[in-house]
Amino acid sequence: MTQPDNDILKAAQDHLWLHFTRHSSYEQAEIPTIVRGEGSYIYDIHGKRYLDGLAGLFVVQAGHGRGELAEAAAKQAQELAFFPLWSYAHPKAAELAARIAALTPGDLNRVFFTSGGGEAVESAWKLAKQYFKLTGKPLKHKVISRQIAYHGTPHGALSITGIPAFKEMFEPLVPGSVRVPNTNHYRADEISGIKGMTPEEYGFWAAERVARAIEMEGPDTVAAVVAEPVQNAGGCFPPPPGYWQRLREICDEYDVLLVSDEVICAFGRLGTMFGGQKFDYVPDIITCAKGLTSGYSPLGAMIASDRLFEPFKKGDNTFAHGYTFGGHPVSAAVALANLDIFEREDLLGHVTKNEPVFQATLEGLKDLPIVGDVRGSGYFWGIELVKDKTTKETFTAEESERLLRGFLSKALFEAGLYCRADDRGDPVIQLAPPLIAGPKEFDEIGSILRTVLTQAWARL
Ligand SMILES: Cc1ncc(COP(=O)(O)O)c(C=O)c1O
Repeated sequence: MTQPDNDILKAAQDHLWLHFTRHSSYEQAEIPTIVRGEGSYIYDIHGKRYLDGLAGLFVVQAGHGRGELAEAAAKQAQELAFFPLWSYAHPKAAELAARIAALTPGDLNRVFFTSGGGEAVESAWKLAKQYFKLTGKPLKHKVISRQIAYHGTPHGALSITGIPAFKEMFEPLVPGSVRVPNTNHYRADEISGIKGMTPEEYGFWAAERVARAIEMEGPDTVAAVVAEPVQNAGGCFPPPPGYWQRLREICDEYDVLLVSDEVICAFGRLGTMFGGQKFDYVPDIITCAKGLTSGYSPLGAMIASDRLFEPFKKGDNTFAHGYTFGGHPVSAAVALANLDIFEREDLLGHVTKNEPVFQATLEGLKDLPIVGDVRGSGYFWGIELVKDKTTKETFTAEESERLLRGFLSKALFEAGLYCRADDRGDPVIQLAPPLIAGPKEFDEIGSILRTVLTQAWARL
């Protein structure tokens, strides 16, 4: 272990305001401080190594320590460090927009850059509202999204978010946001009140809830449906077969825009560039961020279909919306270099080839009494923890607090695995390593999880 820089630890204690963090838990304890990354691993201020089981925060697709991404950033900063996309273009944003357009499904050819994911979601809702105002349906403004889904923290994106605990202290939020059930097939009986539905039947049932919500709200008032290809919060809910196809039909029937929030899922997380390629659908808008640059510089995007851009080509129509740092030249240059790595190293092929190995490793934990369900797609998996496997009984709030916050997160980290123990829905552990990881890293993840989950069960 190296000697830590105590000034840094103290500065963090005294001045940093951590995001989504209960600061009281660090009153007596050091704030974990990460100083360096290399491939699928990160190192803390003491020199201790951890497997990055969450790619930072579903971000570092190409892995840590990539010199060429740092060089792309430095080169661009020297050439043109900053210029906004407010009535002007710069080469890297133009090149990146064209490259992204070529990678999207369907005719999603227009790229509106943001600084991150929440801004992309915010932009999508604003575009949906304005599009309908410009095309003669001015009442259309509401958004339908799914229970427990996380879509970001700006007031609009938070309003679309389906996690009451994150919203209540900021109410009132933007009005016009409506919730429908998600695709948690493991708990389909409880959610639907219908016993024993197959994934297909449940998918159809869940999609129909969207149609019912549109009808109840009044189709003339609904602008968009926002959903992730695989929902993160709640623990990686993949879409049952046919779900996205039915959503597409419903949106077409009621003239509602289908927004695929791919802030996590885009750029290889599922083994494809976008969710539509994995699950065979074409949305009207894609929101993305995170993996676009592998996190070497911040960048997000709202990608819209040709149809949505059409009214903005005319007269004095303007999308009166923007971000100073949206499409930042350094971030755009990094994103281009990142996409070069995707191509050169066939990261999509690597994820697709190794997805079954990752799945098998995690499913190997199902013999543990605490492991209720293992679900996900690509390099994006959740393990739902239960008190009773047969009844699927979950933990009480107090047990969840004791287990997840009091023990699991810390114990996994101490055992050398950075990942997420989450209780925004039922308690889950989430895994999303860098896309360069493979069987060796999966084995390490599996073995640490087995040890720590066995200890957790013993403590219950
Ligand atoms: C699906 C989804 N949408 C939006 C966001 C918000 O992105 P950001 O934190 O970059 O604002 C996130 C963040 O994790 C996300 O997972």
